[in-house]
Amino acid sequence: MQDQIQKLPKVELHSHLEGTINPKLFHEIAKRNNVDFDEDIFDEDGGYAWTDFPSFLNAYDSVSSCLKNAKDYRDIMYEYLKDCSSQNVIYAETFISPDHASDCGISYNDLIRGCAKGIDDAQLDFGIIGRIIVTCVRHLGPQKGVDVAQKMVDNPHPYVVGFGMGGDENSFKLIDFAPAFNIAAKANYPCTVHAGEICGAESVWDAINYLPVSRIGHGVRSVEDEHLLDVLKNRNIALEICPGSNLALSIYPSWESHPIKLIMSKGISVSLNSDDPPFFHTSVGQEYQGCADQLGFEIKHLKSISTMAIKSSFADPETKLNLLNKISQS
Ligand code: ADE
Ligand code: ZN
Repeated sequence: MQDQIQKLPKVELHSHLEGTINPKLFHEIAKRNNVDFDEDIFDEDGGYAWTDFPSFLNAYDSVSSCLKNAKDYRDIMYEYLKDCSSQNVIYAETFISPDHASDCGISYNDLIRGCAKGIDDAQLDFGIIGRIIVTCVRHLGPQKGVDVAQKMVDNPHPYVVGFGMGGDENSFKLIDFAPAFNIAAKANYPCTVHAGEICGAESVWDAINYLPVSRIGHGVRSVEDEHLLDVLKNRNIALEICPGSNLALSIYPSWESHPIKLIMSKGISVSLNSDDPPFFHTSVGQEYQGCADQLGFEIKHLKSISTMAIKSSFADPETKLNLLNKISQS
C-alpha cells in the first residue's frame, strides 16, 4: 500500500512558501546573503525551535528574514516544488506574503518574478504545476491587507490565481478584512482565509458570512457546530486540512482525535496539506500516508481527496481538466 500511496497523484492547496524553507536551505541562503541570525531559532536537533502558536509565528518570521532578492524566492519555490514532485504532487498552490518580502526589501514585482521563475524551472525539470496565492497577514491589520490586495490586482500575473490571509487568528475581526477581500473578489480572484484553526466554529461563521471565500484554511474546528457543517456542504466551501500541522500545534492531541474523517463523512470537500513542512516535520506525502496508517483510509479515499482538491483549486478550467484526467487514469 505504501508504494501505491507514493505513486498516487497528490495535490497541495495549503502551504506557506516562507514556511517551506528547510534548515539546510535556510543556512545556505543566510550565508550567501550575509544574514546574521540568532542560533536560538534552532533546537538541539537542528530543527526550528518553537513551543506554541505565537512562538511558531515568530520563528516563521525569523526564517523568512533570510530572504533578500528574487533569486532567493526562485530557489525556495524550486526546492519546494522539487520536493513535492518527489512525492508525486502534480499541482501545488502556495501562499506567498508580500509583507514578509517587503520587510526584507523585496518589491512585489521582484517577489512574483522570482516565484514564477521557480515555478517555470520546476515544471521544466519535474512536470509539476505550481501556482501562487497572494496572502496578507492578519496580525498586521486590515489596511496592510487592502494594500496587498490592491498590489495584486494592479500587477496581474498568470500564476497568481487567488488571494488569502494567514497569521494570528486572534488579531482583529474577520469583518475588518472585508475591504481587502472584496478588492480581490471584484477583480475575479477566488479567495481563501485561515479560520477554525486556533479559534472555534464562530471564526468559520465569520469567514463565510463576511468574506467572499470559496475555501477555508484549516476550518477543522467547524466540527464544533453541526449546523455549520451543513452550511459548508450546501455552499460547497472546501476545507484545506493540515492534520500534521494541527497535531504539531496541539489543536488535537492525536490522529485518532482529528476530525478529518467526520468532516468527509458529511460530504464536505477537503484537501490534505502540509502547511509549513519543516516546522511541523511533515510533507504532503506524509499526510496522505498518515491518513492511511492512522485512520484507515484506503487508496480510493485518498484518490477522492486529490480529486476534490483539484475541483476546489484555483486553477483555470483547462488545467483542472488535465489534472483530473491524470488522477482518474492513475
Ligand atoms: N502562517 C504560516 N502558517 C500558519 C498557520 N498554520 N496558521 C496561520 N498562519 C500561518
Ligand atoms: Zn496555513
